[in-house]
Amino acid sequence: METQLAALRTELAESRRECALLDRMIAHVPAGIAFLDTDLVFRKVNATLAKFLGLTVEAMLGRRMFDVLPETREYYGPLMEQLLRTGEPFRAVEAPFSYTVNGVPMETFWDFTYMPIVSRDGRPEGVLVLNHEVSERVASQRQLREQITRLKALDQLKADFLNAASHELRTPLTSIKGYAEFLEDGVGGQLTPTQRDHVYQIQAGTQRLRRIVDDMLDFARLEAGVFQLQPLRTDLGKVIEQEVASLRPLAQEKQVVLELRGLVPSVPLVATVDPLRIGQVLLNLVGNAIKFTPAGGHVAVEAKGDAGSLRVEVRDTGIGIPADCHERVFEKFYQVNPSSTREHGGAGLGLAISKALVEAHGGEIGLHSVPGEGSTFWFALTV
Ligand SMILES: Nc1ncnc2c1ncn2[C@@H]1O[C@H](COP(=O)(O)OP(=O)(O)O)[C@@H](O)[C@H]1O
Ligand SMILES: [Mg+2]
Repeated sequence: METQLAALRTELAESRRECALLDRMIAHVPAGIAFLDTDLVFRKVNATLAKFLGLTVEAMLGRRMFDVLPETREYYGPLMEQLLRTGEPFRAVEAPFSYTVNGVPMETFWDFTYMPIVSRDGRPEGVLVLNHEVSERVASQRQLREQITRLKALDQLKADFLNAASHELRTPLTSIKGYAEFLEDGVGGQLTPTQRDHVYQIQAGTQRLRRIVDDMLDFARLEAGVFQLQPLRTDLGKVIEQEVASLRPLAQEKQVVLELRGLVPSVPLVATVDPLRIGQVLLNLVGNAIKFTPAGGHVAVEAKGDAGSLRVEVRDTGIGIPADCHERVFEKFYQVNPSSTREHGGAGLGLAISKALVEAHGGEIGLHSVPGEGSTFWFALTV
């Protein structure tokens, strides 16, 4: 008898220790845990949940859920009823949960699981509640969404401005160009050699400005999605020759050798592309190559074609581009060295436009470059 009692005592002490350990574990789990009986009275509550709610465990234990949290009755009343009736668990993500702490209304969000507990003989015993406050996550997501909306509006504003500004700039530019031509042709009287040189400077500046304004306009159209390709059966060799010829004066002026390779007249590089747009891509790539290659350097344009594809490479011996900028140079307005813009001209849109144009053709564009050695820009089209 004595020994039996002693054994029972040890067992009791043991199971008390285990219970206490379990209680401590539950108290410290970083999630809210509660057990509600079928009358929705709190039978177990952990400290995490009480703290979340701005209450104490003692203030909750033994009391009905809707007495402790009256604001929750409207939403959770029917839900609890359904849980106990069906025995099916209920899970929710980022569910809103409003309550008051010392008269202060709290708007919170929770991920929660409500798990009905059923006895062995199938009687509902209560509901196990597991929840986790995610208000911060919801708030930061909301903030992010608001930021995106604001940024989109800003982007639109910039596109609208670009569009309006480039339209407005075009008209006076056309008139400057026209009058400079009149002067050059001697319509208003013969020019002295100095005056002639001045007119030439005006024309060169106008041309540069015209390119920038055209870039801005094209870019605005691309962004607005009102850009349409007009594909034609095109001899790409011709397009390349034309664009390269138009850039020869620039190359000469900069003392850069501009050479064309791989164009064999007997092998026409025929593809169905928009010749004006592909011409524009070439103009951008070759223009950049000349622009970023110092005097004495070399620019080569090479075209290769085979059964299914066409590849054009523009190689230069210029300043090159650091590896960490290779992707960014295709972004709008990005320039590796914006302070040299004044010297070179350009708005940082040429490559963004070229990429959009090549991709509109279903093609690819890329580069290989080593600073101080040179760059190779290429694009490939399927034919
Ligand atoms: N061939 C090249 N060599 C060196 N840098 C280049 C070359 N092509 C483009 N870049 C770099 O990429 C930037 C973006 O080019 P682009 O979009 O054509 O704009 P922009 O010519 O108006 O500056 C240039 O400012 C330059 O820093
Ligand atoms: Mg450019």
